[in-house]
Amino acid sequence: MRAAQDGTQAIQIEGLTHRFGDVLALDEVSFDVSVGEVVGLLGPNGAGKTTTINVLSTLLVPDSGRAWVAGHDVLAEPRAVRDVISLTGQFAALDDMLTGRENLILFGRLRSLSKAEAAARADDLLGRFDLADAASKRVGTYSGGMRRRLDLAASLVVPAPVLFLDEPTTGLDPRSRAELWTIVRELRDDGLTIMLTTQYLEEADQLADRIVVIDHGRVVAEGTPAELKDRAGGYACVVVPVELSRLDECAAALASFGEPAVDRDTGSVTVADAGPDALAQIIASLNGIELADISLRRPTLDEVFLQLTGESPENPA
Ligand SMILES: Nc1ncnc2c1ncn2[C@@H]1O[C@H](COP(=O)(O)OP(=O)(O)OP(=O)(O)O)[C@@H](O)[C@H]1O
Ligand SMILES: [Mg+2]
Repeated sequence: MRAAQDGTQAIQIEGLTHRFGDVLALDEVSFDVSVGEVVGLLGPNGAGKTTTINVLSTLLVPDSGRAWVAGHDVLAEPRAVRDVISLTGQFAALDDMLTGRENLILFGRLRSLSKAEAAARADDLLGRFDLADAASKRVGTYSGGMRRRLDLAASLVVPAPVLFLDEPTTGLDPRSRAELWTIVRELRDDGLTIMLTTQYLEEADQLADRIVVIDHGRVVAEGTPAELKDRAGGYACVVVPVELSRLDECAAALASFGEPAVDRDTGSVTVADAGPDALAQIIASLNGIELADISLRRPTLDEVFLQLTGESPENPA
């Protein structure tokens, strides 16, 4: 058993296991998060991301296992844990009938701020999250991006050192997503420890210092984005024949270098696991098929993810 009060760890998770009926939602999940780190918990639908966050934020008591947030035991000291965390859930907790400002003031009052303090904090956050112009409009009229920003602001009404963000950008357009990314980076620069869940690999790549990949309640991989890409073989080789009709022939020739992925739209064949040494052999094995292009590139996190979980997060099996 490791020390429960390790000051360098913002979050420690040890063997969390939880069942909902027949579904094993968490299966011996263990990992740590250092103070000031941004960790992306990445996984397809139903992987166990929200369940993990719910245990860490004291909303759910697991069947077994232990966890500490800022040194506090989530099972033995739930109140102390709640004092050191902010949580933005997967589904917004805002009141549509109230204005943005009224929502933030309400959250402040619920967290025991005085009227004046709650109002000052609301105005501060509305300015910071670019919502000052919409402050006196009803939240029911807000766009998805504005709601997500307000939801995040609401969870920050009382500052806390550890922030949980459950799918902060799901359903947002690229511009709103980029705006939220900027906010998350600013919060990281403020020194917050952040655990965010996402199904967007690009998001984890953009924001997270470290990624924990979870699938069917189990941690299947853990590392920096670069380490995970390395794990998937290091390089992908992309071959584009001049004649589209020779695509299948190319795929057959490359089969000994890994499972070839044929993309008829781009007229290319990709093998995910090809090192720089393989390039000469690949060209030789293509045996004179005329090429428009051949290149080596790092695998995308999508390819890594596919390899680790056997399913794409955008198109769950
Ligand atoms: N309250 C519940 N009752 C029954 N089953 C549940 C409950 N909450 C979660 N589950 C099941 O537990 C598993 C993990 O769910 P969880 O919500 O943690 O997944 P997730 O990774 O957050 O997925 P998503 O990306 O869809 O949000 C799923 O199979 C889900 O159906
Ligand atoms: Mg979820």
